[in-house]
Formats: sequence, C-alpha cells, structure tokens
Amino acid sequence: MNPNSTLNSWLQNSGEYQAGKTFEYVMNKYGLNRDQIIRLAGNESTIGTSPLAIAAAKEVAANSNYYDEPYSESLMERLENNFAKRGFDMNKLGVVVGNGMDSVIDHLLMLFCSEQNSIVNYTPTFIYYDFAAARRGIEIIEVKRSEPVSSLAQAVKDNSKIVFLCSPNNPTGDAIAVNEIEALAKELLAQNIILFIDHAYIEFAIPSYDCSGLVEQYPNIVIGYTFSKAYAMAGYRVGYALMSRELKSKYLKFCTPFLCSRPSLAAAKAALEDREHLQKIIDNNIQGKAYLITELEKLGYQARTSQANFLLFETTKPATEVLETLMSKGIIIRAMPSVSERALRVTIGKAAENQAFIKALADV
Ligand SMILES: Cc1ncc(COP(=O)(O)O)c(C=O)c1O
Repeated sequence: MNPNSTLNSWLQNSGEYQAGKTFEYVMNKYGLNRDQIIRLAGNESTIGTSPLAIAAAKEVAANSNYYDEPYSESLMERLENNFAKRGFDMNKLGVVVGNGMDSVIDHLLMLFCSEQNSIVNYTPTFIYYDFAAARRGIEIIEVKRSEPVSSLAQAVKDNSKIVFLCSPNNPTGDAIAVNEIEALAKELLAQNIILFIDHAYIEFAIPSYDCSGLVEQYPNIVIGYTFSKAYAMAGYRVGYALMSRELKSKYLKFCTPFLCSRPSLAAAKAALEDREHLQKIIDNNIQGKAYLITELEKLGYQARTSQANFLLFETTKPATEVLETLMSKGIIIRAMPSVSERALRVTIGKAAENQAFIKALADV
C-alpha cells in the first residue's frame, strides 16, 4: 500500500504540528541532566499540579481497568454548578468536557465544517485552529491582528462557519475588550456563524476581559477553557467549553465517548476544589511577569503587554539562534516565527527559573 496516494488529497502537502522542544531533546543534544534544564516553552505552570488533584488521580488509578463516564458527566456538572453560582442561567447554557481544549476545537469543526467550508482566524494566533482545520480540508481565511476586530465580520464568506478569537491571545498576550467582541458576536449571529472565544489564559487576565457573560445573549458564542494552564494540568489533557444548551445537546450527540481518562477526570474535579493552589499559580504569575518585564527591559528588550502567563519579545538576532544558545545553557523557551523571525516567547516560571532565564539571556 502507498499511504501517500491513499492519503486525503488536502493532506498531501500539509505540514505537521510543531510543538516546543522537550526536556529529552535538550538532554540528548547538549548532554545535560534533566535537573539542569528549565522548560519555559509551553505556557505550562512549573509550580506543578495541585497535591489534591495528584492524590485523586492516584486513588482511581487502580480502578482504571474500567471506562469512566462517557461524557465526563460529573465534571460537566461541577463546572455547570460553578457557572450557576456565578449567576449564569444554566437552563440556557451548558458545559461540555474534552480531552484538552484541542478536542473541543476538533469536535466543533467536525460538527459544523466540511471541505466546502471556511473558518476565519485572527493572526498571529494559536496554531491549532489552522492545523485542525487544514486536517479536514477546510479553507482558512486570515485577518491580521493589526486590523480592527470588526474586520473579522467583513472577512467571512458565504461558506464560513466559525470565527476563532483567542483572548488573551497566544502568542502575543493581548486581550480584546468585551464590547468589541460583543459587537462581532452580534454581526456573526445575524449570519449564523459561530464565534469561538478561546479563554485558555483567562484566569491570568484582569476580570474585565472575561467574555462568559455574553453567551446567554449570543447563542452563537462558544467559549473554550482548559485545565492545562492555570490549573497546571497540561499532561492530564482536560478542557471544556461553555455554550448554549441547544448546541450542547447537538455536541454530545456526536461527541467521541470516553475522552477523559479516569485519573484525569478525578484530578480535574479535585483541582476545582483547590482554590488556594490556583491562587498561588496566579500570584506567582503576577510577580514573575513584573520581574521579567523589568529585567528584559534592562537588557534592552521590550516585552509586549500580556494578560497571560507568558511574554513575547523580539531580539536583534534570529530567534532560532538565540533559542539554540539558550538551550545549550539548559533554558527552553520558544521561537515564534508566526510573529517574526526575531520573536521569542517565554513562559513565566518560578522566581529562580525566571532569574536563570534572565542570566542565560544576558550571556547571549
Ligand atoms: C490559546 C490556546 N488554546 C488552547 C490550547 C490548548 O489547550 P489544551 O491543552 O486544553 O488542549 C492552548 C495550548 O497551548 C492555547 O495556547
């Protein structure tokens, strides 16, 4: 069999997903031990997962010969209760849970788009929207982030189904004002187009950027959330989305069952109870961000304003060159070619990790 000729035609010239460099890559390439390496590349929390979540995962590990709930119903219910406590009308709204937010994105594309359709991206942004759409042969329309938000409504075509809007945005860190997003939602609703708002980093942002209050009024809005960032659970792979009840019922009808593993579900439910741990991660981010902005400035770098747990800055040298030198010193960050050849993104770590990064960068 020749997989190339059997492969879907639109995949023949498609690129693969580019993840950040791993501990193993740097260990092998530069002969370092794992404890000599600091990874600030994936916007993960280096503080670590809540001890309550780890204990909960361990407790159910022994029972994981059984499937868990098909649609993560108990976590769904906890998340819905949390929205209800915040005053949301849960007769109108619902939550779905996925294997990371990535799987929610995949399901929305599966539900609403075919090769005849298009999506709109506000670029540079999180690359998975592109990757997931390209995998399905869906046309991708790009609007540059230097254009106003309103231009997204002008860019949609008759075959457009979803507009992706990341706020706070990865990799730039900026967030979009809720009133601008509301105006866009209104225009898209009139055209029956979904507005997917990616709130992966919302826990780190100032509260006025939270768009959840819009979903009741605009049933075309879906908001994506994740346990990967502020809950420090990237490896557990749990994400979720807030949407209208009607949309939820369609989503669940076609959703892949058993997306969340038993340990991941138990861990996510326990993590929701550990408010103290979440706050510790948010506080560390505030302090680390202020430190890094100041120290980068002392080295002559201007970090972009960020509502997230990372900073984007540009160097005078090619980013890949700077990255290799940093990795040889045991510091992994990320080059961001979607922004520019000189753009680098650093995740905010613990105080000692941030200091080690600054020291290594100063040597570069
Ligand atoms: C903006 C944004 N959305 C979604 C994700 C993916 O989330 P998950 O780990 O839940 O799949 C990421 C991960 O980096 C992200 O940066």
